[in-house]
Amino acid sequence: MKRVILFLTLLIPFFYLLVELFILQSVTDPIKYIYTITGSTATVILFFTITISMIRKYINLIPYRRMIGLYGFFYAFLHLLNFYILDAELDFSFVIKESLDKPFIYLGMIAFFILLFMALTSTKKLFAKYNKYHKFVYLALILITIHFIMAQKSLSILQFIYIGIILLISYCKLLQQIINKNKI
Ligand code: HEM
Repeated sequence: MKRVILFLTLLIPFFYLLVELFILQSVTDPIKYIYTITGSTATVILFFTITISMIRKYINLIPYRRMIGLYGFFYAFLHLLNFYILDAELDFSFVIKESLDKPFIYLGMIAFFILLFMALTSTKKLFAKYNKYHKFVYLALILITIHFIMAQKSLSILQFIYIGIILLISYCKLLQQIINKNKI
């Protein structure tokens, strides 16, 4: 039951996006809007996955960590599809030009490939073999944060708050790693 509730909760941003785009039709710049909803949702979910082991005393979401992580990848994938299909209109030269003009797109792509690797090796069998490489999630999160900051023309108060939360989570995670290391 918990799994179903979580599954449906994580779909809310997707349905919200569909309703805004196709039913309410209230969005003036759909491509920008899709970037914002998919990019922000993926970022929030991915940062949340690294807090799961820190909050396990209060709420144990460890059995659902894989599902939550895959949702993060799902939204990152929609974000990428928005770039290739709607923004670039499948024009590969546009993709190259955008990547050269805007280096933050390179960073986003590297982060995406790390997430793709993690999604593909998240099955029980492959995870046992490749779990040590899953630490690359931290590199992906750093790249995503730089990508997100560079994508902005200027930062609003709300975005400063997001960055503050990201730094706080990273600090707590680092402390947790140091404490765990000292216990061994
Ligand atoms: C796959 C390669 C990626 C490409 C080509 C890409 C492309 C873009 C572009 C073009 C924007 C700017 C949108 C605009 O304001 O006009 C953007 C923003 C953003 N991206 Fe990515 N991105 C990629 C990967 C990622 C990943 C993996 C994440 C997170 C998991 C992410 C999170 C974000 C966020 C949070 C924003 C800011 C959205 C906003 O505030 O409006 N991106 N991305």
